[in-house]
Amino acid sequence: MDKVLDKLNWRYATKKFDSSKKVSKKNLEILLDAANLTASSYGLQPYEIYVIEDADKKVKLRAASYDQSQITDASYVIVLANKPTFDATMIDDYIDNIMKIRGISKENLEGFSQTMKSSLLGLPDAHKNTWTSNQAYIVLGNLMTIAAEMEIDTCPMEGFDKAKYNEILGLTDKGLNAAVVLAVGYRSAEDDTQNYPKVRYSKEQIITHI
Ligand SMILES: Cc1cc2nc3c(=O)[nH]c(=O)nc-3n(C[C@H](O)[C@H](O)[C@H](O)COP(=O)(O)O)c2cc1C
Repeated sequence: MDKVLDKLNWRYATKKFDSSKKVSKKNLEILLDAANLTASSYGLQPYEIYVIEDADKKVKLRAASYDQSQITDASYVIVLANKPTFDATMIDDYIDNIMKIRGISKENLEGFSQTMKSSLLGLPDAHKNTWTSNQAYIVLGNLMTIAAEMEIDTCPMEGFDKAKYNEILGLTDKGLNAAVVLAVGYRSAEDDTQNYPKVRYSKEQIITHI
């Protein structure tokens, strides 16, 4: 079987991590670089990434995650925090960054800036929240795949109380919201889930070629 598929079949949503095995800082940085290289709509990256390693914070987060053990046993808990709302500043900051990195003048970016502003700033807050949260989920997918490529285990998690996460991590004050979580570590040999066959629709059921 193709090596890419081997890795993707090896990956599973880890239920039990081995807390005695820690993902190295070097590998963590590779994962975070990969996260930062993720594509986003217009390139705006309307999110921030929190990496929680602190044991006390993990205990608090576990209590806000229906007591799921992955939160305390994984090496790191990565919280992808979207911007639930935003204004022109987010777009202006991005334009400034393009000017700096690519050496393009403000005048030459004016059209792009206006395109983003006219399509995004008029959205209702609920829609802005959904849109930025969607962008954060692209990071989630990328991280899971890259981690699998590195034979690092992950568990994507939506089973947590967002309001409590926002409070524990002080996200609301920073204009952020916990969108989705990824526990990162190494699987426990005792986690039976790793042996379960994958449950997926057949390609015939889910893919249409036109
Ligand atoms: C966005 C998202 C949220 C999830 N939330 C949880 C969770 O809170 N706890 C958990 O144990 N698994 C969670 N899962 C794991 C899924 O149940 C799992 O990915 C799915 O059953 C497919 O199995 P596999 O990933 O092992 O192939 C989540 C998966 C995704 C993509």
